[in-house]
Amino acid sequence: MSKKRVIYEGKAKILYEGPEPGTLIQYFKDDATAFNAQKRAVLDGKGVLNNRISEFMMTRLSAVGIPTHFIRRLNMREQLVKKVDIIPLEVVVRNVAAGTLSKRLGIEEGQVLPRPMVEFYLKDDALGDPLVTEEHIAAFGWAAAQEYDDLIAMSLRVNDFMSGLFAAVGIRLVDFKLEFGRHYEGDSDVPRILLADEISPDSCRLWDFETGDKLDKDRFRRDLGGVTEAYAEVARRLGILKESGESDNVVSFTNGK
Ligand code: TMP
Ligand code: ASP
Repeated sequence: MSKKRVIYEGKAKILYEGPEPGTLIQYFKDDATAFNAQKRAVLDGKGVLNNRISEFMMTRLSAVGIPTHFIRRLNMREQLVKKVDIIPLEVVVRNVAAGTLSKRLGIEEGQVLPRPMVEFYLKDDALGDPLVTEEHIAAFGWAAAQEYDDLIAMSLRVNDFMSGLFAAVGIRLVDFKLEFGRHYEGDSDVPRILLADEISPDSCRLWDFETGDKLDKDRFRRDLGGVTEAYAEVARRLGILKESGESDNVVSFTNGK
């Protein structure tokens, strides 16, 4: 693993050069950060769970026609993905008020929104990923007008599909963040937009429908404890962690390096 060339190292993942042109290997670390990396921890096994959960989501999304960067999982912590030029925007979809929406607009956390909302944040750690409008995106060329429309349409499709998928296992999809990239297939100079990065409890808010328990990274942000256990519960409900014996033993599942 360490012999491969590092293309990019982020807070929770490393991207290595892939085995063929146009591919990358995405490695999931156990590192957790919050509040623009002011809070940090290492959560044993988180990377293994996120690798599996993200594989599950990307595979199902691609089965319903949403193009993604995912090619295949390679091992406990790595997946082979298509190389993309990341669009420098984080697309957040919200179904229920929480997090910065509640803080910024004074909407009570837990209030169901009148309709799903799509927000854009500029990917810029130095600026703390500020909220941006369509006007900024167009004027500064972060995405073309057609791409902007495509990002919204794709994100809402992802929301519909994932909301149903989670609801079926007793989980409310409160909100989530997506990233997209431009992929050049073969010799084509016309890029195709692919869903990229990861979809995991690091990038979603997931609440148990019955109890309201948080099953996502807010457990870490708010010091609620049981972070990896909550991620394992999500994996178990999705059928990724096999039945009881194995699901009771997060350690045996996640100790791959
Ligand atoms: P927010 O309420 O803090 O704006 O977060 C909205 C959603 O986006 C939530 O599901 C967490 C996710 N998110 C990320 O994945 N990465 C980030 O850097 C931030 C700020 C939020
Ligand atoms: N991922 C971001 C960070 O490291 C923020 C967050 O998810 O809360 O700081």
